[in-house]
Amino acid sequence: MADPKRAPAPADAGTGPSDDVALRIGALRDEIAEHNRRYHAEDAPIISDAEYDALVRELRGYEEQFPELLVPDSPTQQVGGPRSTLFAPVRHRAPMMSLDNAFSADELVAWGERIERRLARGDGNSGATRVVDVEVDPVPEVEPAPDAERTPAGYACELKIDGVAISLRYEGGQLVQAATRGDGQTGEDVTANVRTVGVVPKQLPAGAPQVLEVRGEVYMSTSAFDALQARQRAENLARIEAGRKPNPVAVNPRNAAAGSLRQKDPAVTASRELSMWCYQLGEVEGGPAFTTHSETLAFLGGLGFPVNPEVRLLDTIEEVHAFCERWQQHRHDLDYEIDGVVTKVDELARRELLGTTSRAPRWAIAYKFPPEERTTTLLDIKVSVGRTGRVTPYAQLEPVFVGGANVSQATLHNQDQVKAKDVRVGDTVVVRRAGDVIPEVVGPVLTPEHDARPEWVFPTTCPCSVESVLVRPEGESDTRCVHPECPFQQAGHIEHFGGRGSMDIEGFGEQRVRLFLDLGLIADVADIYSIDWERVRGLEGFGDTAIANLQAGIEASKDRPLANLLVGLNIRHLGPAGAEALARAFGHLDRILAASVDEMASVEGVGPVIAAAARAWFDDDDAHRSLIEKLRAAGLNFAGPEASGEPQTLLGKSVVVTGTLEGYSREEVEAAIKARGGKAPASVSKKTTAVVVGESPGASKVTKAEELGIPVLDEAGFERLLTTGELSA
Ligand code: IVH
Repeated sequence: MADPKRAPAPADAGTGPSDDVALRIGALRDEIAEHNRRYHAEDAPIISDAEYDALVRELRGYEEQFPELLVPDSPTQQVGGPRSTLFAPVRHRAPMMSLDNAFSADELVAWGERIERRLARGDGNSGATRVVDVEVDPVPEVEPAPDAERTPAGYACELKIDGVAISLRYEGGQLVQAATRGDGQTGEDVTANVRTVGVVPKQLPAGAPQVLEVRGEVYMSTSAFDALQARQRAENLARIEAGRKPNPVAVNPRNAAAGSLRQKDPAVTASRELSMWCYQLGEVEGGPAFTTHSETLAFLGGLGFPVNPEVRLLDTIEEVHAFCERWQQHRHDLDYEIDGVVTKVDELARRELLGTTSRAPRWAIAYKFPPEERTTTLLDIKVSVGRTGRVTPYAQLEPVFVGGANVSQATLHNQDQVKAKDVRVGDTVVVRRAGDVIPEVVGPVLTPEHDARPEWVFPTTCPCSVESVLVRPEGESDTRCVHPECPFQQAGHIEHFGGRGSMDIEGFGEQRVRLFLDLGLIADVADIYSIDWERVRGLEGFGDTAIANLQAGIEASKDRPLANLLVGLNIRHLGPAGAEALARAFGHLDRILAASVDEMASVEGVGPVIAAAARAWFDDDDAHRSLIEKLRAAGLNFAGPEASGEPQTLLGKSVVVTGTLEGYSREEVEAAIKARGGKAPASVSKKTTAVVVGESPGASKVTKAEELGIPVLDEAGFERLLTTGELSA
């Protein structure tokens, strides 16, 4: 028996549909109808838009191949899906249509050619400039119109807003009704909720048409969505702690907008910061006559409707495609989600000629961007242990192509994130990879199976072989393995030490580090400098050249700047900027080792948190001081090449200079202060040690210093301060 869930083998050209095809068509129709219901009636889709589109395309492909199997109630002939019964039905006077899609440049070009052929057939030559593909759809050859006669700007290109289509109806200038699209003929009355959307005009200026229907997309901005999602996740954590079930969390701005519009209490909608872009007229009575779509947009803008500013009028399909590509690249520059570009024939008379099919106008096409969200199966949740001992849960996924890459793993960040997202092994999950952002598991598709699955439990011991209990300090979101000999941490630390930004040891990547650790050739970072090369010789991949190269890489690393060494030591909170600041201020590792927390904290770019962490690290005599001595013995550079050589008279001091000094440029003043370990901020605060005043000082700085009782010095006083660290002689 054929499996209706799988695509049947293609039928031979010229033959009728096989039973398999008929079966598959039936299965596709059922499946699509079910997804329509979940999407439109429940706001709870269980597959991504891209997967839905693929099903529709497959069905449409069969129906085109075997038109005898096409039936009027096929989902390909309808718009959207059934309504929910929560809100009163509204019959649209002008139907709200869907759009045909193009998924590639070829499909876009084919659409352009199709409409030009039709226009050429319909009105002789209404701006049509190219005729191709004569075999498929024969039309008389048309001479391109001379440039002067060509209709310029044939296409109006707009962003395809990923929101909820809404029709607004105004009578006598008053907003009387707002309705969703529903099945295109009948939608839902969401007037009370749409009234809470700030940008939607409730009353139009005098002179507006007696009846005006405006269509557009209600959406939630990305920033509003991020805030809502964070709020919902935090609420869920509190619920879980109180032993209650978490609420579903919005997985993307479109679903959030749809859910917000479907609230019974408009006050909830009002709290959701919805917005709208308007892009189309519906029924109009008593309005001006328009000749182009772009005129209608300008008219809407004039009446106070929000019209997206990124509309472009373009002449050729090549320009349209370039516009689509540009927005595909820049979609994340916007604070709202777009999933494509809608191209519309601008001239209304030409639209008339082109007409519509039962579900979509022929005069418009939606160029869809590749999906950034897909659903896949969560195969497992594992944890990895980083060099600082941080234990990070991550999702192992059934590989899925999303956002231009194959994704099989995605971080879940920490224990709270797993809880708040409530993802469970076996769930179908939404995976998102947008732009350069790392892949993310957004959340589970909520199904009865999800509820039946056990919640994931964070491990209590480290996956490292040494027995170690994981620790999550009060008030912190990270869980850590605190065992000093945890091999995962060791490996992570050694990789980090040899990595870029630290000692940058050429040819000493993850695999070799793990191999050398496994063979006992190294146990800590200092061992890198005393490897028994005789044992390495003979290992696979270690010929004379490979060994010589690695030795050279290790040798070269001994001369790295002090800041790199500090980064490589793996001191918590100490990143490249803090390390650089410490190296500059103290000039030598020994001086840093001798510095107090306060002295370190007073260096610009080093705060009390870094200072305390560094001090604690250095004070661990057994593990760390001995490591430093091993590194010294190996001949590593401990001196800051940028060491100022100046006495550190200004450690812990903060000096503001205003106006011009005779002996120093602005840069020299700053350098002189920093070279002595001080800070040189731009503004006066109660932490300021002294304010130095030169020619034409900033009045506000002097006034503020006086108000706060901070000593004000002249240039001589400044020089004294530099040499002695004292404020007065
Ligand atoms: S025009 C008859 N313009 O995309 C044409 N639609 O996938 C009506 N959409 O149903 C639609 N941005 O909900 C149009 N600039 C835009 C749009 C847009 C988003 C939505 C709309 C439509 C759906 C089709």
